[in-house]
Order: sequence, then C-alpha cells, then structure tokens
Amino acid sequence: MTKSANTKKNAAPYGHGDLTWFTHDRFGMFIHWGLYSMPARHEWIRNYERITDEDYQVYFDLFNPDLFDPKAWAKTAREAGMKYLVITTKHHEGFCLWDTKYTDYKITNTPFGRDALREVVDAFRAEGIHIGFYYSLIDWHHPDFIVDGLHPLAFHDREKLNQGRDMKRYAKYMRDQVTELLTNYGKIDIMWFDFSYPWREMKPEDLKWSRNNPARHSWDGKGRDEWESDKLIRLVRKLQPKIVIDNRVDIPEAGDIITPEQYTPDAPLTHADGSPAAWEGCQTFSGSWGYYRDELCWKTTKQCIDMLINHVSRGGNLIMNVGPTSRGYFDERAMERLAGYAKWMKYNSRAIYGCGPAPKGFVEPVDSRYTYNPKTNRLYLHLQNWPFKHIQLPGLAGKVRYTQFLHDGSELRFRESGDGKAVHAALNALTPENAVTIELPVQQPDVEVPVIEIFLK
Ligand code: GLC
Repeated sequence: MTKSANTKKNAAPYGHGDLTWFTHDRFGMFIHWGLYSMPARHEWIRNYERITDEDYQVYFDLFNPDLFDPKAWAKTAREAGMKYLVITTKHHEGFCLWDTKYTDYKITNTPFGRDALREVVDAFRAEGIHIGFYYSLIDWHHPDFIVDGLHPLAFHDREKLNQGRDMKRYAKYMRDQVTELLTNYGKIDIMWFDFSYPWREMKPEDLKWSRNNPARHSWDGKGRDEWESDKLIRLVRKLQPKIVIDNRVDIPEAGDIITPEQYTPDAPLTHADGSPAAWEGCQTFSGSWGYYRDELCWKTTKQCIDMLINHVSRGGNLIMNVGPTSRGYFDERAMERLAGYAKWMKYNSRAIYGCGPAPKGFVEPVDSRYTYNPKTNRLYLHLQNWPFKHIQLPGLAGKVRYTQFLHDGSELRFRESGDGKAVHAALNALTPENAVTIELPVQQPDVEVPVIEIFLK
C-alpha cells in the first residue's frame, strides 16, 4: 500500500493540527486501560463473548488498581524514548477513565475512586511527554447507542432493544465529553477517535455474513452521520486549534494523520495528490490492546526495535501500545520490551528523532533500512541482520565524508568503488559502480540493531 485516498493536502475545511513536533518526535506510547484489564482476555471481550451489561458489572464493582503508579509509567515511557502518549479515556466498553459529569459509568464510582486520567496527564507532562486522548466513538454501554452488528447484544432482540434509543442524544453526549476532555486537562496534543464502519449496500457476497437482517450489511455500520462527525471535529478544533486529529471519524479531510493498524506500510504514504502524508502506525506487543494474560504471540525486543526503524524509514511514526494490568502496572513482558527500547534509544535515538526516509534514489542494501535527518544531512544505516565484514552502499560514491557506529562514535573505514584502496584487487572489480564499501568488524557489537551514522558531503 503506497497511496491513500485519505487526507487531501489542501482541502482544509477543518484546519490542520500542528504536525511539526509530531513528525519530529516519531515515537509514542499508546495505553489501553479499562475494565477489560480484569477479565484480561482482550479489550473486545464484551463483543467476543457476548457479555451483557449485568454480567460485565462485576468488573466495575471491583475495579481497584492498588498498584497504579502513573509516575512509574511516565518514567518508563520517557526512558524508552517515547515522546508522546495517547491513552484511552473511554474504549468501546464505554467505561470512562475520568471524572465526567455525563455518566455514572466512570472510574470515580469504582472502589478505586480517583480520576486516573488526571494523574496520568500530570505524570506524563512532568516527564516532558506530549498528551493525546483516545476516545471511542463506539460505546457498548450507553443507553442511546443503537445496538448494531458489532454490539455485544447484537444477537438479542435488536428491534426491542433499540426502541427509544437515539443516536442524536449519543452524539451530543460525545460532544459534551469531548468538551470536558479538551477543557479540563490543559493543552492536549492529539485527539484519537476510534472508529467508523459506515453502512453500505450489501453485495451478494456479503449476504452470508448478515444473520439477522438481510437488508443491511452485517455490521449495520455507523459513520459520520451517526457520530455527527462534522460538528464533533469543528468542536475539537475550536477547543484546541493545534491538536493533531486521527482519520477515523469517516470524514477524510478531517484527519491530520493516517493510522495504519498492526501492519507497516512498505513505502511512504501519500495524499491523493501524491504529496507525502503524515502517518502513524499503531502496534501492539502481543496482538491485543488491552491486557491479555494468556496471549503468547509476543514480539521479541528485536522485532519491536525493527518496527520502530521500519516506520521511521518510511516516513511514519510508531505508537507502541501497553495494556496495563488491572492492578495498575505494566507487566514483566511489556517492561522487558520497553527496557529493550530504552537500551537501544539511549544510544541510537539520533537515528529516529527528526528523521524520515532517505533522499530519493538511495537504495538500501539488503537486510537494512535507511533513515535520514535533512537538517543535519546525516544518513543512518540500520543493520537489521549483521553482515560479514563489509557492506556496500550503492550510489553513494562521492557523497560520503565520514562514517561511524552511532552507539559509540567509533570510526568505520570506507572506500569508494574504483579508488584502488581495496585489500584485494578482486574486491575492487566486484564492487558495483559508484558504491561506498564500509568495513565492519566480524562480530556484531552488543547492540540489538547496530546503526552506522553517515556524514554526507
Ligand atoms: C481498533 C480496535 C481497538 C483498538 C484500536 C487501536 O480499531 O477496535 O480495540 O483500540 O483500534 O488502533
């Protein structure tokens, strides 16, 4: 995927957020935390297991994260090199992490009794981290939210359940809550709405998915009309003009960023007119977003670091998710990977912050990625699979002034094709035209992904 019909550069009926810091910082932390951390079987558990409000109530009644320590979360994020946070203020389950006036279904009414959101915002701000709010458009608890095919009660008597429900009132509820969030917590840098699934005419091949009502798509979707996205986005811009908004409210022009989820684009993303688009890949350590105790498909630390590099080398940001436990801490598996980021970023963040794709025409050697900082004119070569003794960089002859390992600033000697400096004459002959060949130690240095810093002329 290289193109997106999403945001169009100059169509700005909704204005634009400030992307300067965003595209510089590149690396953020997502936090998904809610009642679902108690069953610990996915944040979609209400949908996956078709849980009724009555059966879900036990989690609300007992929610009490006694080890909640937002300062520790913030310190961990800062050490991992993460420069911004996006936290779920409300996920699809409808539970609110702040002291909202508009529902009783909020954290201050659980045994925990505190406004966790305020404490998180304060703690992360104190670490110099930008603050973003995720707000679910979907709400499986709200009494006005029309029960659709995604709703946990989808297979109950929908007609009966939906009597008296009114999406207009629900849309107003969202605006009221968003007003609270964007008024009472200081400057907010990102607003992350999630997500739209607009109704569409069923195609014959969709029929098999539509169990209850063959006249509609199985999801009985919701989009800009149901959310009243136009009003919602105008409100957000009015309250926080510089805020960065994601692209999930079903109005393409309203989004500042494109948000690929759980995959990494293999080339920079562009607007419909071909100009580069800002994008942020959202990724998980293990597949689910909420804490999932028994999930086994955790990525390795190396994979996590590779993901960060892969995003930045294609001009994107990475927002990596943590799902805290119901007692309020990041579990060992998450901590291990975050520590891996911290160790790597301590020495290699220069190849991430302020960086993006290499200039056109720079061809990456096999098993490696380039990132490039246009301000300093330095190119970074990330060696994701350690080569043997040499690496050749096609097309760079005549362009390189100096090369070194980034982690320790130690020189790496290089030569250019045809300069006659090769130890073996044969090597010169085998070197491609216009290439730079860098000499490497046989053993990989003790760095998860070694980076070569190339000072261009
Ligand atoms: C989704 C999911 C979800 C997660 C999110 C993050 O669409 O519904 O659980 O919050 O994306 O990108």
